Amino acid sequence: MIDKATVQKITDAADIVEVVSDYVHLIKRGRNYVGLCPFHNEKTPSFSVNSVRNFCYCFSCKKGGSPVNFIMEKEGLSYHDALLHLASKYNIKVEEKELSEDERRQLNERESLMVANEWAAARMEKALRDTEEGRSIGLQYFYQRGVTDEAIKKFRLGYNPDSGHALSDAAKLAGMDRKSLVDVGVLGESQNTPGSYYDRFRGRVIFPVLNPSGKVVALGGRDLKGGMAKYINSPESEIYKKSNELYGIFQAKGEIARQDNCYLVEGYMDVIGMWQSGMENVVASSGTALTDGQIAMIHRFTDNITLIYDGDAAGIKASLRGIDMLLAHKMNVKVLLLPDGHDPDSFARRNTPEDFRKYVQDHATDIIRFKAQVLLKDVGSDPQKRVEAINSVVTSLAHIPDKVKRNVYVQECSRILGVSEEVIEGAVEKSRGDVVERQRRQRQVDEIDRLDSNETDPQPDVSKKLRPSGSDSIIGMYPYYPMERTVIFQCVRYGLLDFCEVEFEDGSSGMISVVEYIAEELQSDDIWFAFPAFAKTFNRIIDLKEDYVNEKSVFDQNLAAEKKEMLQKGYEEIASQNMHMVEIRRAERVLEENVEEEMAKRRYDFARYYIEQKLSSHHDDDVRRTVMDAINEEQPLSNIYMRNNPVSERKMEVDRMRVLVPRGVLEWKNEMLNQLIRSKMNQLDSIRGYSNPEEEQKILMETQALMEKRGQLGKVMGDRTIGRKIK
Ligand code: CTP
Ligand code: MN
Repeated sequence: MIDKATVQKITDAADIVEVVSDYVHLIKRGRNYVGLCPFHNEKTPSFSVNSVRNFCYCFSCKKGGSPVNFIMEKEGLSYHDALLHLASKYNIKVEEKELSEDERRQLNERESLMVANEWAAARMEKALRDTEEGRSIGLQYFYQRGVTDEAIKKFRLGYNPDSGHALSDAAKLAGMDRKSLVDVGVLGESQNTPGSYYDRFRGRVIFPVLNPSGKVVALGGRDLKGGMAKYINSPESEIYKKSNELYGIFQAKGEIARQDNCYLVEGYMDVIGMWQSGMENVVASSGTALTDGQIAMIHRFTDNITLIYDGDAAGIKASLRGIDMLLAHKMNVKVLLLPDGHDPDSFARRNTPEDFRKYVQDHATDIIRFKAQVLLKDVGSDPQKRVEAINSVVTSLAHIPDKVKRNVYVQECSRILGVSEEVIEGAVEKSRGDVVERQRRQRQVDEIDRLDSNETDPQPDVSKKLRPSGSDSIIGMYPYYPMERTVIFQCVRYGLLDFCEVEFEDGSSGMISVVEYIAEELQSDDIWFAFPAFAKTFNRIIDLKEDYVNEKSVFDQNLAAEKKEMLQKGYEEIASQNMHMVEIRRAERVLEENVEEEMAKRRYDFARYYIEQKLSSHHDDDVRRTVMDAINEEQPLSNIYMRNNPVSERKMEVDRMRVLVPRGVLEWKNEMLNQLIRSKMNQLDSIRGYSNPEEEQKILMETQALMEKRGQLGKVMGDRTIGRKIK
């Protein structure tokens, strides 16, 4: 662990313009810099670097963040390693703090698994060439399948000798930790004689699976003797989730970005065959259906994907399998079927590279057109089948997020399917609603899954008066998620700005900040963030208060000194000009106003950006992510608002915080009351006639009280915080 002070030093030193400039050619535009986004392929720059706020952001692919986030993303590093990377760039000495027992164990575990895999892969690479058996069996096999030396080197192909203990012996000799080799599945431990090990990949040729930064996360071993298990793969481990990796991504990523397209094939040999034919932008899903994680990985490099399958029935079916998911990820998807009975590997062997490339270029079809045509061919004259086919196409269309693109397809599909545009469009838009809703739920589920393992920050001493009893559905776990999100985002974006003047109990008055206002509003009704990441973030913001006050006072002192200097200089400048006294007075007043305005602006910026500066590099993933989401999502107000207001009067959300902040809390409370009232009514329904009248009466009264409270809520909001009165 790097200690807090050093982390601070690093994040203070790291200048976003400098850091990004190592990767992107930046052009100054106004107060910002722009350039071509390094995370996706583009021709017009949408990557913007904000030197004042020290972060970068791509308006197109939405990647970016603080210098640390940028390095994490760009170099594929962990938070910790990104800090080290920056520390060395800025010559900052890092003394690592002692790790806790748990932290060390986890770090060591990952580390030793990586080391074990790397050792094994290197060892097998060597065995392929440096042993007689490797050459005569492994290498021979590759040659016979047309694999070139260049490809063998590029993909780090290897061979595990057949003795059954070649790797195990070598590991022992090299002093390797054999337990780790067992954990990554290179060795097995004998059940009868513990402490004795055997090679799991014996007699197989080896395809190492590299992650995007080139680390060996798994091995695949192909059988050469016609055994039952054609492939053996590494088991899933701390460093390997099969469904998150793509074979070939490390070798292909540069070319995918350059070509702005990615070929997706099924197997190890297919990748190699394509690569040898000069189509280096190719990866394999290793025989399984694409997952969200894999699509996201491809999406880092391009929006365009071409699926390549065998032209037989199974291949056609497979090609249609993942398309809705791809469309939902805003990918442009094409599909290409090879002649029946061919996979890219065999096709590459039968054709020259030129012919293969030409075939690919000529035969790639848009996936939706392809789907419509394929399904229609199956239909024949069966009307039931026809309806099913149309519905299936409609569902795919509904997964396209972009309306314009959707409409283009509606036209085309209407032509192919012979159904009027209006009918298709109507069905698509109807289905689109369901798709969006399903995706929203899925996102929540995913987020909750991700956070579930983390503990919740407890709310300080507050009973859960307004909190509804838990429901077991996952959505039911955080029923106020959207409202909580609005409120925490407000805190992150402008939590330290003055919100309003209040009168304290002792009669004095003063300003409270947005965060203080919100904290009081929540406390007055005993509400607290249920969503763990938000609770954590809110607490971290509250924790900042003390540092903020201290730093602010230093800042104010410096500012006062600077102000004096600016005024002095200005007065001198005015005096040095030949002016009448009246003009001098006027010029001095203008100067004073300008300086004052500048000071106010600096004070405002200090408060406005303090939170994001401190927390956008926070070590806790949840906090950092919440903060980055909040600042990157801040947009000018709604489209309608934008359209109806001239540019000069357009406001950012922050300019309307007086209205938006109370509304955020109000909506949250309101929704809680709604749900509470609903549950009381249900309770009433369920006991009616079964219990005594007093019981019923009691619940009725409670319900009415809640309804009254709801009625008052709007009125009282904004003009009271408990114990204080807003002036
Ligand atoms: N695969 C795997 N594990 C298995 C079977 C298959 O990981 N037990 C993956 C491999 O990436 C394999 C791909 O699925 O390359 C396709 O499988 P298959 O068509 O059976 O193998 P091929 O790669 O075509 O093998 P070959 O051409 O050598 O017969
Ligand atoms: Mn094959």
